[in-house]
Amino acid sequence: MPAADHPKAEPADPNDWPDLDWPDLDWRDEAIPVSRRFDDPYFSLAGGLAETRHVFLAGNGLPDRFRPGFHIAELGFGTGLNLLATLLSHQGPGPLHFTSFEAFPLPPEAMARALAAFPETAPFRSALLNQWATQSGPTRSLSFPGLTATILIGDARETLPAWGERADAWFLDGFSPAKNPELWSPDLMHQVARHTAPGGSFATYTAAGHVRRALAEAGFTVTRQPGFGRKRHMSTGSLPA
Ligand SMILES: C[S@@+](CC[C@H](N)C(=O)[O-])C[C@H]1O[C@@H](n2cnc3c(N)ncnc32)[C@H](O)[C@@H]1O
Repeated sequence: MPAADHPKAEPADPNDWPDLDWPDLDWRDEAIPVSRRFDDPYFSLAGGLAETRHVFLAGNGLPDRFRPGFHIAELGFGTGLNLLATLLSHQGPGPLHFTSFEAFPLPPEAMARALAAFPETAPFRSALLNQWATQSGPTRSLSFPGLTATILIGDARETLPAWGERADAWFLDGFSPAKNPELWSPDLMHQVARHTAPGGSFATYTAAGHVRRALAEAGFTVTRQPGFGRKRHMSTGSLPA
């Protein structure tokens, strides 16, 4: 579909969307995208934006740690909700950098429908969708006030080892480790640590033992924290400064 055909209108109400049937997605409660490939929702059924704030922002001590040049990296760009939550949390001086690794980029229509469930994201949603609709290829560059984002398209098992930068904070947001084990393997967690600045951190919604052990073996001091929604625990950690 040419970029000009992508929807430009702000979807005011998720229920206003036509029955958009993207081949790889089901929609739970008409609003939450569920991957057919992985049989898992893109974000918590208990509230995606609140989950992002609890798990990924607070779990990494953000926004308090933001400073000019601060670099967030993410495994799994999905709908872009974590990027929008980061933008909403960022009041201080920029620029921040946000790099996300994504193997199966969603079409802008699907992102728009998912993000429409979060009216709070309105200040940055159109900017994200309009830029996303014009981007293609393996490296997608997005620009926002105070933040630049790079989305690296491809299997993170190949793109992360080749990445030439280090993050100050990681959002580990693959589908559940049981359904998307390749995004939580010891090798990939080692690559996450290798691409983390001294004193850098990670946060993830999962408290799966094998993921926590892989992150600890990669060099992180791993801590169990209260989880979001029905999840009793989540995990955070940091490298020595
Ligand atoms: C839970 S969703 C991420 C949700 C996202 N952070 C958001 O804000 O909407 C997991 C993402 O990981 C991606 N993914 C799964 N396996 C991958 C792989 N091997 N390499 C890169 N991305 C992968 C999926 O396509 C999906 O977009």
